[in-house]
Amino acid sequence: MLEQPEKKPYRVFSLWLRIFHWTMVLCVTFLFWTGLYIGDPGFSMFVGKEPAEAINSWFSMEMIRRVHFGFAFILIFAFIFRIYGAIRYRGDRLLPKFRKRLYWDGLKQTTLHYLMLPRQEEHRVLRNSLARTSYLIVYIMMFFEICTGLAMYSQIRPESWLAIVFNPINLLFNEYQIHII
Ligand code: HEM
Repeated sequence: MLEQPEKKPYRVFSLWLRIFHWTMVLCVTFLFWTGLYIGDPGFSMFVGKEPAEAINSWFSMEMIRRVHFGFAFILIFAFIFRIYGAIRYRGDRLLPKFRKRLYWDGLKQTTLHYLMLPRQEEHRVLRNSLARTSYLIVYIMMFFEICTGLAMYSQIRPESWLAIVFNPINLLFNEYQIHII
């Protein structure tokens, strides 16, 4: 009987990555829902509330905004720690490798595959090129979300250092545009 080669356990993603990945999932889920509520409570299931409930109740605008800001700050820290992890641990870098031919070939082959068209070759990689590209796009969007969020948030105290740092965004666009972005 042929002897089986010894299988060594291989850690695909670090614990660090997993912790901050799931922290961000949780934050984005809450931020999405509370953000919809802030934009228009009609988007959430709580419709037809009396104006008296605008403050001081569980599903009031005041409370939902607090929850939004709480998760916003957790997201900001998780985002920073996740980027630190990518710098620290080589295996946690899941960004596209634009300078490698494998990336461009993979992008073409995976796109063909997703379009249900025949592909020429199969790429066996940890994360395919399209997935890596989408991670980068998600991170860029989160960066913009954080900057515009902090620009709006800093207006609570226009004399604070946060406002000094993020106010240029408010000057670049008008308040309405920032809410839309
Ligand atoms: C995935 C992340 C996030 C999502 C999906 C999200 C979504 C939203 C949405 C849909 C709104 C309502 C916009 C409007 O119509 O007025 C909003 C408002 C707001 N968000 Fe976020 N947000 C996110 C992250 C953040 C972060 C990181 C901050 C930073 C502090 C932040 C701060 C704010 C502020 C200050 C407002 C305006 C509150 C108000 O007008 O009363 N958000 N957000």
